[in-house]
Amino acid sequence: MIELVKTMNPEIIERIVEIEAEAFGPGGLNVWYLEPLIRHGRVYIYRLNNEIVGLVNYMLDWDNPKKAYMVGVSISKESRGQGIGAKLLTESFAALTKETIEEVELTVDPNNVAAVRLYEKKLGFLATGFKQDEYGKGEGRLVMKLLLTNFAEKDVM
Ligand SMILES: CC(C)(COP(=O)(O)OP(=O)(O)OC[C@H]1O[C@@H](n2cnc3c(N)ncnc32)[C@H](O)[C@@H]1OP(=O)(O)O)[C@@H](O)C(=O)NCCC(=O)NCCS
Repeated sequence: MIELVKTMNPEIIERIVEIEAEAFGPGGLNVWYLEPLIRHGRVYIYRLNNEIVGLVNYMLDWDNPKKAYMVGVSISKESRGQGIGAKLLTESFAALTKETIEEVELTVDPNNVAAVRLYEKKLGFLATGFKQDEYGKGEGRLVMKLLLTNFAEKDVM
């Protein structure tokens, strides 16, 4: 089950920062970036036996308030490859839909096989573009979108 993080709970923040550092190194979320996402965006965590094993976070698209931009998703190393990423995202889409979000957009490193497989094959995201050198020379990002109106939860779970 996912849980919406609503407060700056130190235990939750510490665990999120740990998972993010493991997943992205220095590029992971720290407390300074988590605060605006928690207070003004959406951060959902996933617990397994009460331990937080993953999170996904979104911001609203300024130009299109019906669109949520997925800033990132990360699952702790020992819990990957068990379908938790798919469950976390699927449940977060249901929560976003209730908040009248119609579309989710993200960017991903095209070499990130697990993430691309999760987005494209398991969840039905479509690649809609490529941003060359988005994060510096050779660090291009694939742009992917999913219309939540077309999303069928039963196909994933
Ligand atoms: C990407 C990530 C969130 C996926 O979470 P997860 O819980 O492992 O996701 P799932 O188990 O639901 O699905 C992952 C799929 O990729 C597959 N996969 C994993 N590693 C793979 C690899 N090296 N090659 C091919 N497929 C791979 C899994 O088998 C699974 O597909 P399947 O269920 O059809 O077998 C997780 O790997 C992660 O946290 N990575 C580090 C952070 C990151 O890259 N985030 C995304 C960028 S924002």
